Amino acid sequence: MIVEPKVKGFICTTAHPEGCRESVRRQIEYVKSKGSIEGAKNVLVIGASTGYGLASRITMAFGAGAATLGVMFERESNGKKTATPGLYNTRAFEKYAEEEGLYAKTINGDAFSRDIKNQVIETIKADMGKVDLVVYSLAAPRRTMEDGTVYQSVLKTTGEPFTNKNWNLGTNTLCEATIEPATKEETEATVKVMGGEDWMDWIRALKSADAISEGAVTIAYSYIGPVITYPIYYNGTIGMAKKHLLESSKKINEEYKDSGIKAYVSVNKALVTQASSAIPVVPLYFSILYRVMKDMGIHEGCIEQMDRLFKDKLYTDNVELDREGQIRMDDWEMCADVQEKVKEIWDSVNDDTFKNVADIDGYWEDFYHMFGFKYDNVDYTADVDIM
Ligand code: NAI
Repeated sequence: MIVEPKVKGFICTTAHPEGCRESVRRQIEYVKSKGSIEGAKNVLVIGASTGYGLASRITMAFGAGAATLGVMFERESNGKKTATPGLYNTRAFEKYAEEEGLYAKTINGDAFSRDIKNQVIETIKADMGKVDLVVYSLAAPRRTMEDGTVYQSVLKTTGEPFTNKNWNLGTNTLCEATIEPATKEETEATVKVMGGEDWMDWIRALKSADAISEGAVTIAYSYIGPVITYPIYYNGTIGMAKKHLLESSKKINEEYKDSGIKAYVSVNKALVTQASSAIPVVPLYFSILYRVMKDMGIHEGCIEQMDRLFKDKLYTDNVELDREGQIRMDDWEMCADVQEKVKEIWDSVNDDTFKNVADIDGYWEDFYHMFGFKYDNVDYTADVDIM
């Protein structure tokens, strides 16, 4: 089958298996080029198939030589429709890992469920013994509880309606977007989905099954961003969930201090992923940020961020934390030079200047790459097996 991109707004409904393989191959090559990491040897990655979770898995496998067990929620191909990119990424990752003699298994199912937690624990016990690193990198729209209750996460403000410049990805034009405030129930539901409750459930389940080592590390990912996006992100529903995530890291540290389990939250850089392209207002900020950071020679993608996280920030003698107790991988994004420039562009950007002052091409390149498209060394005219 010839697979072409079918883009609808901020989502692409097709994925290219060969392009996804190329994306994984390039990430592996990057990690190998940066030298080895002294770190965990048995790693569980929850949310392992795309974005930051995939990059974490690749870094630990090909940088630290770790055995990795991944959890993802991806759709297989039915022979007519392609699979989701995470499925193709994972198959490619597993193949590359196997070629190097690295253990790599993946469980495809709902990470929030008891059933998947049990399957993961059984696999750890059978194949790995115990894990010494747990990466929690879920970005999910909803969470189904054991009693069938479904919580839906929303991207809204928690105070007043918020109006600001917005890049309409569908029409590729600038407009204004107004984001309405969430109800109390919507905020609570977002915290249920994207907060730290399920992360704690995972650590408790692993600990009570004796499937996590003494002195193990667990890390989850957060975002803060600039004041411009505070109403929609930091002070919005998702920001409330991220505050809960941070509180949960403190609870894990307290509950398991005798076993030496350490929980960290890493505040990562804003990057185009399937999760982040869905947030209004944010893509315009991303494209301006990309322009500024590329011009300054300090732009990073997921793999560069994760390689730097594990090598320079986490597996060091002294883990440097901010006042809130978080690792700051957004250090380059948030530095004054970058933010002043971004703010200047943000304030003056209009329809006429938009395409010059923002990295529109870079944004779309990352977007298409996520689905395995627009790699110059992949032949998109060739027939490909989507199964
Ligand atoms: P992503 O959309 O690329 O990855 C999400 C992962 O979660 C995928 O592997 C997917 O299969 C998995 N997943 C979703 N629902 C699941 C479920 N019910 N069961 C099992 N697996 C499930 O997202 P991204 O951007 O890599 O986000 C990961 C984390 O990083 C999130 O917590 C996000 O808030 C955080 N983050 C993202 C930033 C960004 O700009 N993209 C910046 C800073 C933090």
